Amino acid sequence: MIRVLFVCLGNICRSPMAEAVFRQKVRHGGLEDKIQADSAGTGHWHVGEMPHVGTRKVLESHGVVYTHRARQLTARDLDEFDYILAMDDDNIADITSLGAGRAKVARFLEYAPHLGVRSVPDPYYTGGFDEVYRLLTAAAEGLLIAIRAEQTL
Ligand code: 4NP
Repeated sequence: MIRVLFVCLGNICRSPMAEAVFRQKVRHGGLEDKIQADSAGTGHWHVGEMPHVGTRKVLESHGVVYTHRARQLTARDLDEFDYILAMDDDNIADITSLGAGRAKVARFLEYAPHLGVRSVPDPYYTGGFDEVYRLLTAAAEGLLIAIRAEQTL
């Protein structure tokens, strides 16, 4: 099983949306028995909460079914996952401050270089949930292609 973890700050806006979008692509690709996805936040403030209403609305409007409760990233995650995808450079710094593990840690938007965007803007502050969905969808496609190639799936 290939394990993929999406990480943002609060685990209520960007990373749960990334996880949900990626899961849907995995499902459509018939790879559910090969690839698992989860998400976590570097911060603890929202642990146990459902995704932000903005994330829930965007996912609903695209027919993506999703139930997740926020959890905080742990050092163990760095060993338990194969890929850890961060939304911005602050997330990368917070992830690597926990130590090193076997997970490959990268910015998620590295998988959509054609977008020319480095970081996923935080809709908790910007309110731009639709734009975030657009960026995450493109990166999810790129990530699935990369994983298929790297893992020969
Ligand atoms: P996220 O957005 O990292 O995309 O889940 C945020 C959610 C909550 C906070 C910051 C960002 N917060 O400071 O509570």
